[in-house]
Amino acid sequence: MEWSEILERRRMVRSYLPDPVPDETVRRIVATVRRAPSAGFSQGHRLVVVTEPETRRELARLAGEEEYVAAGGRPWISTAPVHVVVGVREESYHERYRKPDKLRDGEEIGWPAPYWYVDAGSLFLLLQLAAIDEGLASGLYGVVPEQVPELKALVGLPEDVHFVCVVTVGVPAPGRDESGLVSRLTQQRLPLDELVRWERWE
Ligand SMILES: Cc1cc2nc3c(=O)[nH]c(=O)nc-3n(C[C@H](O)[C@H](O)[C@H](O)COP(=O)(O)O)c2cc1C
Repeated sequence: MEWSEILERRRMVRSYLPDPVPDETVRRIVATVRRAPSAGFSQGHRLVVVTEPETRRELARLAGEEEYVAAGGRPWISTAPVHVVVGVREESYHERYRKPDKLRDGEEIGWPAPYWYVDAGSLFLLLQLAAIDEGLASGLYGVVPEQVPELKALVGLPEDVHFVCVVTVGVPAPGRDESGLVSRLTQQRLPLDELVRWERWE
């Protein structure tokens, strides 16, 4: 597949057929986690694959699916056959950066940004690309902070793993899937020079 086609298909899809995705396919998609970049190769990613309908319905409730539906969208969260809960264990990064080859003057480095979240971002994109490679589509949702403890309990995420987002995977439903609430339609794509400058920002 050409890069331009991959880029075109790299979309958040919010409408799926109910068809299940074979386990082997899901396994190939989530196995990309072992190829994901991570700071110091800390490998703090932690994924939970959810396919059981009752758990998916609970996830949809926690994510406020009814708001998408009220805005004219489809109940895409509860109908997506596969949900990959993306978590990250911050302590894996501290453990890694306290190893001798990473110490600076005997200390763990200061973090210019929370690299565990950076790595979760890289991973969700890899999952999207892996889904494309399988001829499938994917989407992403989060929940409001107040719902995080319930979501973590629902899927059994350990205390020391931060919840980041959920990636949905499935066969895309035909036709347009987007309600007026979808940001890609409500926001203008910024011109390149608002996003990229050469040599200096200002
Ligand atoms: C960190 C992150 C969180 C997002 N959360 C949601 C979400 O909760 N619900 C949703 O429908 N889309 C969510 N999106 C999808 C964005 O709205 C989408 O990426 C953006 O509108 C651009 O559309 P595209 O990815 O299809 O090109 C999220 C995307 C990212 C990167």
